[in-house]
Amino acid sequence: MRIFSGIQPSGEIHIGNYLGALKQWLQLQEKNECVFCIVDLHSITVPYQTSTFKKRILEKAITYLAVGLDPKKTIIFVQSQVPEHTELSWLLSTVTSIGDLLRMTQYKEKSKKYKKQINAGLLNYPILMAADILLYQTEAVPVGKDQAQHIELTREIGRRFNQKFGQTFKIPKTFLPKKGAKIMSLTEPEKKMSKTDSPQSCIFLFEKPKMIRKKIITAQTDSGKEIKYNPSSKPGISNLLTIYSIFSDIPIAKIEKEFKGKGYKIFKEKLAELLIEKLEPFRRKKKELENQQALLEKILEDGKKRAQIIASQTMKKVRKNMGLGKI
Ligand code: AMP
Ligand code: TRP
Repeated sequence: MRIFSGIQPSGEIHIGNYLGALKQWLQLQEKNECVFCIVDLHSITVPYQTSTFKKRILEKAITYLAVGLDPKKTIIFVQSQVPEHTELSWLLSTVTSIGDLLRMTQYKEKSKKYKKQINAGLLNYPILMAADILLYQTEAVPVGKDQAQHIELTREIGRRFNQKFGQTFKIPKTFLPKKGAKIMSLTEPEKKMSKTDSPQSCIFLFEKPKMIRKKIITAQTDSGKEIKYNPSSKPGISNLLTIYSIFSDIPIAKIEKEFKGKGYKIFKEKLAELLIEKLEPFRRKKKELENQQALLEKILEDGKKRAQIIASQTMKKVRKNMGLGKI
């Protein structure tokens, strides 16, 4: 199967990104043709720093490699280096309804947050995402739950295009992880863990052990002291149980049993230890990669070339079907 997904270079990767997306990517790369992108053009729809932007992109490339994506098996590249993404985005905008864009949850949230700087790019963001996906004739898109609505819209845009201009795109499926599709904030467990919220609310993938301990110990928990999974009445402890379960590979029911009568403190200390141990290899790998700029550049250059071969094939078909191209 052809797989496509992407992460924005804004902010630091946290365990929500890892469990919702990256962890699935690692498994998928073994048996599929995977294309994983650093979607820099999506990040510029909200205020960002130009002077550190390239560094942020390289950091994401390091992250991809540090978690174990293998550039021999997988295409890793930067979105803005393959201009077909923006070209297709414009063409797809002509089959996208404004009403659909206006009802996207992420648009509503971001336009509230950046009230004074709502630009057209923020509204059109999902069209660019549809272009990313459709350009590669993608069959499945592994993402966290917050992106499911965007992929639904991608399917709709693809279908409408195919109807209007003839069969052009494969219609992709959403691939959500069974567990961890929505990891919640440590400080406000009713909200998703988010890169753009306070650092206290996230455990970053490369977080130092001292900070992991501190953040887990002070994570918001619920009244009572039972370690019991119940997202509606105990959102804090349920989120920590989910994290524990995925990182340890132990079912939640078994963890509940193990910590029966032991209280939050002991559970949190064990969870902190588990995270410190499981995240250590990522920290180590990241350090190794940090001064290998030439290698990173080569991987991204090679990825760009491989991506462009697929992208340009699709674009030929798109232009032809739309009656565009050479006169
Ligand atoms: P972003 O940080 O918005 O570029 O998201 C990168 C990937 O991480 C996407 O597939 C998201 O769906 C996923 N993701 C982001 N936040 C979470 C979360 N709190 N829990 C699970 N997955 C998430
Ligand atoms: N919008 C996605 C996010 O915020 C990132 C993204 C851009 C993406 N293009 C994509 C994800 C294509 C999957 C496929 O997480």
